[in-house]
Amino acid sequence: MEKVIVGTNIRKSFGHEKVLRNVSVEIETGEFISIMGPSGSGKTTLMFALSGMDEIDAGSVQFDGKELVSLSDNALADLRREQMGFVFQQPTLLKNLNLLDNIVLPVQKGNEKKSKMLMEKGQKLMDQMGIAGLEQRDITQVSGGQLQRAGICRALMGNPKIIFGDEPTGALNSKSAQEIIYILSEINKQGTTVCIVTHDVKVAAQTQRVLFMSDGQIVSQLHFSRERVQSIDERMVEVTEKMREIDI
Ligand SMILES: Nc1ncnc2c1ncn2[C@@H]1O[C@H](COP(=O)(O)OP(=O)(O)OP(=O)(O)O)[C@@H](O)[C@H]1O
Ligand SMILES: [Mg+2]
Repeated sequence: MEKVIVGTNIRKSFGHEKVLRNVSVEIETGEFISIMGPSGSGKTTLMFALSGMDEIDAGSVQFDGKELVSLSDNALADLRREQMGFVFQQPTLLKNLNLLDNIVLPVQKGNEKKSKMLMEKGQKLMDQMGIAGLEQRDITQVSGGQLQRAGICRALMGNPKIIFGDEPTGALNSKSAQEIIYILSEINKQGTTVCIVTHDVKVAAQTQRVLFMSDGQIVSQLHFSRERVQSIDERMVEVTEKMREIDI
């Protein structure tokens, strides 16, 4: 399988605290992967390292065969903008812009001529995410789940190769969380690689592979078989057992 990300022996410290201790991880193109682990174990730091959002102290991260540390700041910013989409726990949308403008904003800069096309694309994505009709709403006039869908639309505007999500369902109730996970699965089925951090066993159970982090290391992983038909409940039991086994 083709790898979209190959991280090798990644190390990262903040002051004296070793936050990533020799982490190696490979993500295959088309995978839907989740990262679990206790608070402070280094999940966000790892995601930032893999996406080039933050520098690493040692080791290597390759994206599509390109070594991230060898890229200039501009090249790295371009690569992130063109190939990666980011979804956070709380979408960082701007208060004085309506939902559609917020979605289109990141790809619009320097692209004013294509503005109409981008607006149409934004609208189409909103339709696909089930938030059509909310284009003109202010971000304070929609629900948390709707806001997160808008965040996903924004992440998809540039047709990314991979979507990174740092606890994308963390601020949502279980119904909205389920809807977001369903949307991410659909995006994944259409070919986009998805990598999310989650504390939610049910969310992790709906990905294909779960990495477990503890104290700056990947200590275990679970790979759900594509051949074996398993219910979400059965997978949740497996995730929970694994967490117990490795004491996280
Ligand atoms: N910018 C920073 N400066 C200093 N320390 C940091 C910084 N970012 C993270 N840390 C520390 O690194 C460790 C790992 O943080 P990280 O955010 O990766 O954890 P996490 O697994 O994502 O936790 P959570 O589940 O709470 O989000 C923590 O001890 C944190 O305090
Ligand atoms: Mg985190």
